[in-house]
Amino acid sequence: METQSITIRRPDDWHVHLRDGEMLQAVAPYTARQFARAIVMPNLTPPVTSVAAALAYRDRIVAAVEEASGFTPLMTCYLTDASDPDEIARGFEERVWIACKLYPANATTNSAFGVTDLRKLQPVLERMQRIGMPLLVHGEVTDPAIDVFDREAVFIQQVLEPMARDFPELRIVLEHITTEEAAHFVRDARTGIGATITPQHLLINRNALFAGGLRPHAYCLPVAKRERHRLAVRAAATSGNPRYFLGTDSAPHVREAKEASCGCAGIFNAPYAMESYATVFDADGALDRLEAFASVNGPRFYGLPLNESSLTLERTDVEIPVSLAAGSSAVVPFHAGETLHWKLAAVG
Ligand code: NCD
Ligand code: ZN
Repeated sequence: METQSITIRRPDDWHVHLRDGEMLQAVAPYTARQFARAIVMPNLTPPVTSVAAALAYRDRIVAAVEEASGFTPLMTCYLTDASDPDEIARGFEERVWIACKLYPANATTNSAFGVTDLRKLQPVLERMQRIGMPLLVHGEVTDPAIDVFDREAVFIQQVLEPMARDFPELRIVLEHITTEEAAHFVRDARTGIGATITPQHLLINRNALFAGGLRPHAYCLPVAKRERHRLAVRAAATSGNPRYFLGTDSAPHVREAKEASCGCAGIFNAPYAMESYATVFDADGALDRLEAFASVNGPRFYGLPLNESSLTLERTDVEIPVSLAAGSSAVVPFHAGETLHWKLAAVG
């Protein structure tokens, strides 16, 4: 008989954008409702580069969620050309932040302050390697001459492989992988390398961007790739391999910012993230591996305890709203207007 319900350890989200101000107020509860912990991206304007800014941001996040959710935000430091190894190490030792985030300059939303020259980062990476602080990487080259669909694969070749060799002990997470090259790189790499995987890269390929017209709500970075790549990423997620773990990359933008002549990159998947992942694992006959992906592999990579609480999903239809309120505007969630067949039933 078909599985009707599944209970797993409460999951964590190892990559999420919670934003700030009224957007933070609107979106943080969706993450806190499902996930016990989340690694919060630092790409605010201005980005989170100091220990003091991370502490203040953490307080604003905690204030935006219900205490009863038991949610813990895990903060990150945004790397720039001017990053100071001492400040980074201090924040790590004081347990303010858990990792550093590397955005190649201008690779994506709010990355204008990102790193322009990796050579400038050598002392930072050396220090991170020494203290065991993970580096989270937005893995795309920014060279406009490189086709946008090839930027992840080229980044792996040109940047990531040499970096993994030059810093053989550095713990690295290749974030939101979208290609077969990325899935295989992580699978075959030296120890200490992992990857996060989003719901959208398990569910859509690049055709979704052009289905009957231009679909801004299917646009995120790295952009969805060909079907072959989706299948490789999906095989990775459902494989049970401990190197792959859940990271939604939920990246809300108000509707007007998405539906524009130059629409922002980012898919807001937080409200139904676990429903989305459960749909994938169920379809692939891998529900028994959902817990490893969502609740075990991540904490093991980061050396954190597993959550003792649980989350239950039931096979029940759930209709996804066409939009959700966000302060004075609205955000359109992933799967807007669709019906999913798994529903979050309980968190305990
Ligand atoms: C993210 C955002 O909007 O902050 N956008 C996205 O498409 N994923 C930035 C990022 O993670 O690249
Ligand atoms: Zn992101």
